[in-house]
Amino acid sequence: MNDLLLELDDWPKYPFVDRFILPTSEMPLCRKVYKPSLILNQSVLRLIKEYGLIPERLTIFHQRPGFTGESIHTDGTPGDPRYAVNWMLGDSTFSWYRAVDKRIPPPTNLNTRGFITVFDPTAVEKIYTTKSNGPFLANIGVPHKGENFGTGNRWACSLRFYNRFPNWSATYDFFKSKALQLS
Ligand SMILES: [Fe+2]
Repeated sequence: MNDLLLELDDWPKYPFVDRFILPTSEMPLCRKVYKPSLILNQSVLRLIKEYGLIPERLTIFHQRPGFTGESIHTDGTPGDPRYAVNWMLGDSTFSWYRAVDKRIPPPTNLNTRGFITVFDPTAVEKIYTTKSNGPFLANIGVPHKGENFGTGNRWACSLRFYNRFPNWSATYDFFKSKALQLS
């Protein structure tokens, strides 16, 4: 098992319906929340159903060229078994971090996507970076951030579900066994 991610080779490489226009902004980072059934293509919706997953929301994070300023955070409090299926469009890195300092910051309340916990960048060290465009299953209960080192736009499309698992290991095993079952 990988503690941070699982490449989802059986999931479609491009998730959206044909007419969908990716959001852009003049701001360095902008976040837009969508209802999954309105913008995901039939291949993805069919697969989600076969997996027995219930989509909650799809958030698209647009980052302008060269933007590396996203905060290092966990979704929920650190250790919450949060997961997402991520597609990365454009040049992208996605990195995970480990706290090297015992101080765990208080969660920050963000109305549109629940609690996140933001970490002081001097209190963590990077453990792994992927340049994968996905889709991949991401452990977002571990501190992480996305960056755009490229000269074009980057979009991180993060699909969240109502289904809950007791921990990352159970989440990983669920996705792995569904892929085997359905292949
Ligand atoms: Fe996140």
